[in-house]
Amino acid sequence: MNLIWIFPIAFCDAAEPWQLGFQDPATPMMQGIIDLHHDIFFFLIVILIFVLWMLVRALWHFHYKRNPIPERIVHGTTIEIIWTIFPSIILMFIAIPSFALLYSMDEVVDPAITIKAIGHQWYWTYEYSDYNSSDEQSLTFDSYMIPEDELELGQLRLLEVDNRMVVPAKTHLRIIITSADVLHSWAVPSLGVKCDAVPGRLNQTSIFIKREGVYYGQCSELCGTNHAFMPIVVEAVSLDDYVSWVSNKLE
Ligand code: CUA
Repeated sequence: MNLIWIFPIAFCDAAEPWQLGFQDPATPMMQGIIDLHHDIFFFLIVILIFVLWMLVRALWHFHYKRNPIPERIVHGTTIEIIWTIFPSIILMFIAIPSFALLYSMDEVVDPAITIKAIGHQWYWTYEYSDYNSSDEQSLTFDSYMIPEDELELGQLRLLEVDNRMVVPAKTHLRIIITSADVLHSWAVPSLGVKCDAVPGRLNQTSIFIKREGVYYGQCSELCGTNHAFMPIVVEAVSLDDYVSWVSNKLE
């Protein structure tokens, strides 16, 4: 049973004004990134409190009025061993889950669909080359931002596009990312993807979207004057809806 039916909540799948935290995860990858962030934050808090306590203690006890004649100790073997070993143990506790996440994100799990995202100055092109037939063109379309004066009520400014990238939810997808001109970056926070689009090169990520929804992202590599105006919208639908969308597009 999905928890959303018990506690009805609205997911945050686009950036919100003054947002500080993460958007809600929609892929296991983003879930992993958030979990790792929380993992590391634990050590950050512990170290912060410890260092702050040491600093205040030192300032207090070694104040020139309270401690007029300074000690002449220059080193102590025991304390030096402790302050070398202890941080390296902490680093190990950070490195192990970090590498585990890194390598699992690299894995491409037998994808059902391959989609190519091509960055242009200043829009994205999506190519569904799985549906190529020898004599026909592939299913390809451009995705432009909706300008501010053409927005309809409820559409997000600087984030909505005319043609969304439609994908099925609960399916292993492979996204191949490249560029036709300069460096761009295909990034969707809720999906945990930020992949550079490099001209003359194919980058690949795999995503598995856990729930249906509309996920907003933006180009994340400075690519010229309209860098801020080439957003990304991924619409995850049920498999049936996806199949009818594809057959509609192919006519
Ligand atoms: Cu494309 Cu920034």
